[in-house]
Amino acid sequence: MMIQVSQLAKIYSTGAHPVVALKDVNLEVKTGEFVSVMGPSGSGKSTLMNLLGCLDTPTSGSYKLDGIEISTLDDTGMARVRNIKIGFVFQNFNLLSRTTAQRNVELPMLYAGIDARERVRRATTALERVGLADRINYRPNQLSGGQVQRVAIARALVNEPAVLLADEPTGNLDTRSGEEIMAIFQDLNRGGATIVLVTHEWDIALHTSRIIHFRDGSLVDDEKVENPRKAVEQLTKLGPGNQNNTHASEISALVVPSGEVPFVQTVSEFDARRGDAQ
Ligand SMILES: Nc1ncnc2c1ncn2[C@@H]1O[C@H](COP(=O)(O)OP(=O)(O)OP(=O)(O)O)[C@@H](O)[C@H]1O
Ligand SMILES: [Mg+2]
Repeated sequence: MMIQVSQLAKIYSTGAHPVVALKDVNLEVKTGEFVSVMGPSGSGKSTLMNLLGCLDTPTSGSYKLDGIEISTLDDTGMARVRNIKIGFVFQNFNLLSRTTAQRNVELPMLYAGIDARERVRRATTALERVGLADRINYRPNQLSGGQVQRVAIARALVNEPAVLLADEPTGNLDTRSGEEIMAIFQDLNRGGATIVLVTHEWDIALHTSRIIHFRDGSLVDDEKVENPRKAVEQLTKLGPGNQNNTHASEISALVVPSGEVPFVQTVSEFDARRGDAQ
C-alpha cells in the first residue's frame, strides 16, 4: 500500500477560532493508482495534499507513506522523505523565473546531492519525456502556460518519486493544454507511477481511475471511474492546436517573481514562503 491514512485530522489554531480543515479521514491508495480529489473550495483538499506531501503534520491520526509512519517524524525526517519519495506539482513549488527549464528541473537533484553530469542527463530526459526537448534553455517567461506546467512535472519526476502529488495542475490552462498535461500523467501512471491530483473540473477527474470527494473536511464519497477518458483521444478530437495559445503571464502565479528560493527543506521554510505568496 503506497498511502495509508487513518483517522487523520487537521485543526488550524492560528486564527481567533480553530478551523477543522480535516476530520476522521480514512484513505488507502495502492501503488500504481491514479486518484483525483474533488470538493468545494475550503473542503480540505490542499490541506490533505500538504499532509500527504509531508509539508505539514496532522493534529491527530496516522499517515503511512510506502510503509513509513510520517506523523511521528520531525522536520528533518519529513524533509528527507519528501526529497526521496514525493514529486510535487504544487503552486507553492514555483519555478525560478530567471532560470532555464533545464536548471529548474535540476534543482531537486541538487538537494539530493546528485552529481552535475547525472543531473544534466536526467533533466534532459525528463524534459524530453514531457515534450520539451526543444525548450530546455528557455526561461519560464518565454514559455506558454502549459509548457511551464510541463517543466513543473519534469521537475517533479527527476528524483523518481514513489508518489506524484498535483494540486490543480490544469487550473489555469485552456482545454488543449489541460489535455496535454493529463496525457503526460496518464503516460506516467501507465509506467507505474502513483498519482494523487486535486481538481475542480469533472472533465479532468474523469481521466483518473478513482475520484474521492471532500466536504467540510470529511471524505464523503469514493468512486471508481469505469472507463477513464483517454487524453490522447481527446487531443485527437480537438484537432491540431495553436502551440502557444496560453501565455505564461496567465499563470504567473506559478513563477517566483523574486527571491529565487523555491525548493523548501523544512516545514517552517514552507510556511515562510507561503506567507510571502499572500
Ligand atoms: N494555514 C492555515 N491556517 C488556518 N486555516 C487554514 C490554513 N490553510 C487552510 N486553512 C483553512 O482550512 C480549510 C481548508 O482549506 P484548504 O486549503 O484545504 O481547502 P481546499 O479544499 O484546498 O480549497 P480550494 O478549492 O479553494 O483550494 C479552509 O477553511 C481554510 O480557510
Ligand atoms: Mg486548495
